[in-house]
Amino acid sequence: MSDQPKGVFIDDVEFPFDDSSSILAFTDKALGDKIIPTLCNDDNLNPYGACRVCSVEVQQSEDAPKRTVASCHTPIAPGMRIYTNSESVKKLRKNIVELVLSDHPPDCLTCEVNGNCELQDVAASVGVRQIRYAKGDNHCDREKDLSHAYMRMDLSKCINCSRCVRACDEVQGQFTLTMTGRGFESRITTDNDMLFGDSSCVSCGACAQTCPTSAISDVFQSKSVEADKTVRTTCSYCGVGCNLEVAVKNDEVLSIRAPQDAVNAGHTCLKGRYAFKFYNHEDRLTSPLIRKDGVLTPCSWDEALDFIKGKFESIKQDHGPDAIAGISSARCTNEENYMFQKMIRQLVGTNNIDCCARVCHSPTAWGMQQSFGTGAGTNSTADIPLADLMIVIGANPTAAHPVTGAKIKQQAMSGATLIVIDPVRTELARMADHHLQLKPGTNVAVLNMIQYYIVEAGLLDHEFIKERCEGGEDFIEQIKELDVDAMAEISGLDKEDVKAVAIAYASANNAMEFHGLGVTEHSQGTKTVMLISNLAMMTGNLGRPGVGVNPLRGQNNVQGAADMGCQPHHGPGYLWMDQKDVQDFYEDKLGLPTPTTPGRKIPEMFDGAVDGSLKALWIFAEDVVQTDPNTHHVVKAMQGLDLLVVQEIFMSETAKMADVVLPGTTFLEKSGTFTNTERRIQQVNAAVKPLPGTKTDGQIIVEMMRKLGLDQPDFDAAEVLKEVASVVSFFEGVTWEGLAASPMGLQWPVNKKGEDTQILHIGEFKRGKGKFHYHDWKESEELTKHKNEYPFILTTSRELQHYNCATMTRRTSNVQILTKDVIMLNPRDAKAKDLISGDRATLKSDRGQVTLDVEVTDRVKKGVVRTTFHFPEVLINEVTSGVTDEETKCPEYKIVAVDVLKAS
Ligand code: FES
Repeated sequence: MSDQPKGVFIDDVEFPFDDSSSILAFTDKALGDKIIPTLCNDDNLNPYGACRVCSVEVQQSEDAPKRTVASCHTPIAPGMRIYTNSESVKKLRKNIVELVLSDHPPDCLTCEVNGNCELQDVAASVGVRQIRYAKGDNHCDREKDLSHAYMRMDLSKCINCSRCVRACDEVQGQFTLTMTGRGFESRITTDNDMLFGDSSCVSCGACAQTCPTSAISDVFQSKSVEADKTVRTTCSYCGVGCNLEVAVKNDEVLSIRAPQDAVNAGHTCLKGRYAFKFYNHEDRLTSPLIRKDGVLTPCSWDEALDFIKGKFESIKQDHGPDAIAGISSARCTNEENYMFQKMIRQLVGTNNIDCCARVCHSPTAWGMQQSFGTGAGTNSTADIPLADLMIVIGANPTAAHPVTGAKIKQQAMSGATLIVIDPVRTELARMADHHLQLKPGTNVAVLNMIQYYIVEAGLLDHEFIKERCEGGEDFIEQIKELDVDAMAEISGLDKEDVKAVAIAYASANNAMEFHGLGVTEHSQGTKTVMLISNLAMMTGNLGRPGVGVNPLRGQNNVQGAADMGCQPHHGPGYLWMDQKDVQDFYEDKLGLPTPTTPGRKIPEMFDGAVDGSLKALWIFAEDVVQTDPNTHHVVKAMQGLDLLVVQEIFMSETAKMADVVLPGTTFLEKSGTFTNTERRIQQVNAAVKPLPGTKTDGQIIVEMMRKLGLDQPDFDAAEVLKEVASVVSFFEGVTWEGLAASPMGLQWPVNKKGEDTQILHIGEFKRGKGKFHYHDWKESEELTKHKNEYPFILTTSRELQHYNCATMTRRTSNVQILTKDVIMLNPRDAKAKDLISGDRATLKSDRGQVTLDVEVTDRVKKGVVRTTFHFPEVLINEVTSGVTDEETKCPEYKIVAVDVLKAS
C-alpha cells in the first residue's frame, strides 16, 4: 500500500490535492481567501510570473529542501508543502514592492485619486510604508494620453506588469497594446506609438479593468471610489447577456465594470462598459404626451391612459378586438413582455401581438423547431474552448456580439479551425482558415454544396443519422442530385473551396456552428436554418459539449420576448394559440378569457394599417420607422392608424408619429430578467430610480391593465416571475431568489428543483427524432424583379460602436468614435462609378434613395455594397424591400437591388 501523501500542506495544514493549475490557484481555492499578494497576476489571464510578489517557499515533500518560487505559475503537486508567510518571503515581497515604487510617482502611497489601486493595497499588505531607495525617474515624467473617448493613459504610473498587454491579447484578441524598449526604457505603447484614441483599440476596457495602478483607467473610474453602492445587473445591448457591476452614488451611475463570476468572465464591449450615459440624457422623455391640434403635448398619466382606454373601447365596439395590435419589446424584461402580451391577449382580446424577433431571428426559431423541436440555441458560449472547428455563417460577432466574438477569436488563435461564410470580409473572415465570400442571397446554394461534398466524401455520421434522426435517407438521395457546378456559379465561389470547408467541418471532432442575421434576414431564411441543422445532424455535432447550432440573437432579450409569448401564434412557453386545450390552459391559469382568432405578424399589422383593417397599434420600445424595411410603407401604416401609442425612452422616429407617447425607463432603472442567446435567464436589478416623470415599463402596463378592468398590485418583477413559472413549463424552477443566488444565471429548461440545462437534445431531440429537410435554392424575388435595373446588391449590418438604430449609443461618447453610416464599395466598382473614399453617393432602389459617404474597400466583392443603419439622418430602410422570409415573414434586409450613383 502506498504511503504517498495525498494532500497539500499550506502553512502546515493539510488540504486535499485537487486539479488547480498552480500553487496560487490551489491556495486561493483551499483557503477561500487570497492570502498571497500578487501584482502581475490576474485570474482572467494566463500566469506570467514577472513580478515575483507572489513568491512562496515550497518543499516538494517533507524531506526536500525549501526553495522560493513564484506561486502564480508554479504547478501544484501532491505532497507539496507551501509556506506562504515565512520571514524570507515576507522580506522578498517587501523588497520587490519597494523597488517597484522607487520608479513610481512619489505620491503613490498617499494618492487618493484612485481608490481602485491594487499597487497601494499590495504595498500595504507587504508592509511598505516608505521607500528606502533613491527615486528613479524613468517613468515618472511620461505625458498623459487623453485622446481616447473612454480611457486615460498615464504611463507615469505604469509598473510594466504587462497585464494590459496580456488583457488586450488574451481577452479581446486585439493586440493593440504592446511592450516596447528594453530595461529602463521599456514601456507600453499602442500600435507603434499612435495616440490611444487613434489606435486600433476597440474600447473593451479589459486593459483598464486589469491595470493595478490606473496607468490605464476608465474616464469614469476615478469617480467609482465615491460610490455608495454597486448593483449587479445584466447588459441591455446584445444577446450575449454580459453581467455588469454598476457603481452608484446619490442615485447617479458613476461607472460600470464587469464581474468575474459571470458568463462574460470580467469582459464586456465598449457598449456595456462605457455607453451608459444615455440613461439620464437630456433627450429622455419625461412626461406622457398626447397629440392635440397636431402637436404632441404633455399630459398626466391618467389623461394618457384614459385616452387609450377610450379609443380601445370605441375601436373594439366598431371593429372588434382584432383591429387592435401590440408590438412588444425585445429590449425590455421577460416580466414586462409577459405582462404586455397578457394585456393584449387577455384584456384587449386579440392574438395580434408580435415582437422584433419577427424582423431578426423568427426563421431561426421556426427552422430549428422544425428540425429539433425547440427553436433555441443548443449549446453555450462556455463550450467554445472545447470546439476544434467553428463555422460562423452570416454573422459578424466581433462587432455585433463582441464578447462572444472575442471568445471565437481566442479559440481560433489557440488552433481551432475557423470557417466564415459571409459576403463581407469581416474581422473573423480575415483570420479564418476558410472564408467563403459568397454572393448575398446564396446561403442555400452554398449549404447544399457543403452537404453534397460531405456525402461525396463519405463523412456522414451514419450512427447518429440512423439512431437519432428521421428523413436522412431521402435527404441524402436528394442532395446527391445537386448540380454543384450551377450552385458554384450562382454563389460566385470556387467548388474546391467549398469542398475543403465541407471536409474540414465533417472531419472535426467537435464542430460548433454560429449564425446571425445574414442567415435569417433572407427570403429563404428559415430554409437556411434547416440546412444548418442538417449539417449538425449529418455529422453528429449535437447533444454534447463543444458542438451544436448556436444562433447569435441580436437584441438582448429577443429570446425572452418570444419565450414570454410575444408572437401571434405562440402564447407564453410556445404553446399554439389555435389549439383549444391551450386556450383552456391559459384561461384556467389566468382566470381570464383567451382570444381564439389567429393574430397578425408585424408586416401583416402594417399591411392592415394601410388597408384599414387595423385601427390601433401600441408599440413598446421599438423604432419601427427607422428599423423596419421599406420605410415609406411603414410610415404609411403609422399614418393610417386611428391610434398609435408609443412607449419609449426617447422621441424616436416612430414616437414622432404617435398619438400618445408614454415615457418608459432604461434597464438601469428597472428590475426583472433577460434571457440571453444561450437560454440563460439572468437578473436585471435597478441601479437608480426611474427619472422623474417616467415610470418603469412594467408599471405602465400594469396601470393600463387596471384601466382595462384588471385590478392588481403595482408591478413587481419577482411576483410576475412567479406567474411566468406557473405558466411556462421550462421556467418551472425559476425563482427570483434562485436567480439571485446564481451569478451565471439559469439556462432553460429549469426543472422544479431549480436545475438548469446547458446543452439541449442530449440523447433525444425535443421532437423525438431530428428531422432532415431538403430545400432547393431560389433567387430572391427582389433580385428577379429588379436586378437588371438595379445591378448592385446592398446588404446591411452593424458596427461595433453602435447598437441597432443607435437610439442609446448615439447619446453617448460612442458618437466620437463612429460618427456616421457609410457605403462600402469595391475598388473596381468605385472606379467604374468614378468614386473615391469620402465622396458622396446615392443608393437608389425601387422604393427610394439615400445618400451617404463612400468608403472604398475590398472588404466587399464587386457588385456588392454594404452599409449600416445606425443614423436616422440616413434612414437606410427607405431603400430596403418588402420581401420577407417565405415562412415567418422576417424581412429580407440583406438583399436589396440598388444602383450606385455619384451624388452631385
Ligand atoms: Fe506571480 Fe507576479 S503575481 S509573478
